[in-house]
Amino acid sequence: MPLIAFASPKGGVGKTTLVANVADALRRAGRSVLVIDLDPQNALRLHFGIPLHDTAGFMAELLRQPDWRRLVRPTSSGVALLPHGAADLRAALHQAAALERDPLLLSGPLREMLSDPRLLVLADLPPGPSQPLAVAAPLATVVVTVLQSDAISAAVLGEVESGRFLGGGTMSALLTGRLQFVLNGVDMHSRLSRTAAETLARHLGARLLGAVSRDDALSEAQAHMRLVHEMAPGSAAAADIAHVARAIEALLPMTQEVSEASMTAGMRTRW
Ligand SMILES: Nc1ncnc2c1ncn2[C@@H]1O[C@H](COP(=O)(O)OP(=O)(O)O)[C@@H](O)[C@H]1O
Ligand SMILES: [Mg+2]
Repeated sequence: MPLIAFASPKGGVGKTTLVANVADALRRAGRSVLVIDLDPQNALRLHFGIPLHDTAGFMAELLRQPDWRRLVRPTSSGVALLPHGAADLRAALHQAAALERDPLLLSGPLREMLSDPRLLVLADLPPGPSQPLAVAAPLATVVVTVLQSDAISAAVLGEVESGRFLGGGTMSALLTGRLQFVLNGVDMHSRLSRTAAETLARHLGARLLGAVSRDDALSEAQAHMRLVHEMAPGSAAAADIAHVARAIEALLPMTQEVSEASMTAGMRTRW
């Protein structure tokens, strides 16, 4: 039922990495999880072992109004994945224009996904303001903003807190109250990173869901097209990500445990 949208003011902050690994942590906690990639980089699949040459996906086919169920991939982690699909610049521009004209192309399928009361949907959005964000944000229970623990994030905190970085006017108003934050790449050995993290944490208070340390285990797992819990379950990053997943769960209206058996059965029948 709930949609958790992951957004960020800029790219390269670890958004896709967190979506993949938080989804895995939620799955391990017994949730039925679907991740949907709304970023034309089409990178979310790479955390789940989908080979590079496999370029099919939902958003890339959006104009043909595909049945999203047909494009969902089961993954070995148990997380169901809806890849973006390969899209060149021209296709991405077409898609954005079509979405602006007809938001139902995306909001319709999203509503269908959210109508399943047991399903937790996590969306990986493009960085900054975007058409997919404009469509997905109003449907989201929580918008998780990923910030890097650096001086720039601390300096632009005012913009970030207001939600204005995700789009002007109505868009930021829509998001108010649903914005939560995760700090990524905290390096406790770097004075600058630590100071930035402390500044950000002080300002964000309860809206800070957690912090994820800078840890090569995350990029190593990605290089192997695996999730960090599979490669390095004892790593600092795996522990931090489990913490963020628990904080997200605590925000959800539906808190009852989904039993392993019913979830497995549900996954099997649906996809
Ligand atoms: N906490 C972290 N520690 C170390 N490397 C990280 C961390 N988070 C992300 N990375 C690496 O940073 C790069 C960018 O991450 P990515 O998730 O693709 O960012 P985004 O989706 O925001 O563009 C990737 O190579 C990823 O492995
Ligand atoms: Mg990304």
